[in-house]
Amino acid sequence: MIRIDKFLAMHGYGSRAQVKKLIHDQLVFVDGEVIKDPKIKVDETKAEVEVNGKQVTYEPYQYFLLNKPKGYISATSGNALTVLDLIEEPYPDLFPCGRLDKDTTGLLLITNNGPLAHRLLSPKHHVEKEYEVIVDLPLKEDLIQEFKKGIRLNAEELCQPADLIILSDYMCHLIIREGKFHQIKRMFQKVGYEVIELKRVRMKNLVLEDSLLPGTYRKLTKEEITELNQFE
Ligand code: URA
Repeated sequence: MIRIDKFLAMHGYGSRAQVKKLIHDQLVFVDGEVIKDPKIKVDETKAEVEVNGKQVTYEPYQYFLLNKPKGYISATSGNALTVLDLIEEPYPDLFPCGRLDKDTTGLLLITNNGPLAHRLLSPKHHVEKEYEVIVDLPLKEDLIQEFKKGIRLNAEELCQPADLIILSDYMCHLIIREGKFHQIKRMFQKVGYEVIELKRVRMKNLVLEDSLLPGTYRKLTKEEITELNQFE
């Protein structure tokens, strides 16, 4: 059961105050009856909710794919600009699924689906994250084996095997299946390179398309959402 004002706010009908006005204006109906009290609770899975003659289908979760630009932090609040400052959506409770450094760009999933985010971020599920990396020195072929073996960051931290794909002298893709603090930068540091540019281009089935400009975002498709929720 959920309060009708919260239900409507999470379905994009604005802030609690805006929703209250809709109720006050007698535009909200539940199971055919006009609602007068924003505190009233409804069974969100069964109730037939209508706003201004339009049925509201129960959709608890929202998903957006953001192309994060540099200069934004992957948090919901803070002193710096956050990735949520780029999301102009009425839905409350959105958060970034995982972290990209302030100077890292690329794919970031923004959602309010906590259980899914937890599964995607758990190293147990080996969710693939693919990065485009530009380094300061020419890439050598034998790095492929080093990354495959697993890079040791320090006495406590050994990285799982990662796939390195060399694209040109200074550019490669690296696929990792966990998410340690500053992982990519530290892995390259260990093999004698400095990361100059870092961009995430894929997470699991979600691929960042070139047409999605930095600082913009789009909704996930139904197919993407279905596949994202499938785990082995
Ligand atoms: N690895 C890093 O070093 N930084 C990121 O932002 C993501 C992965």
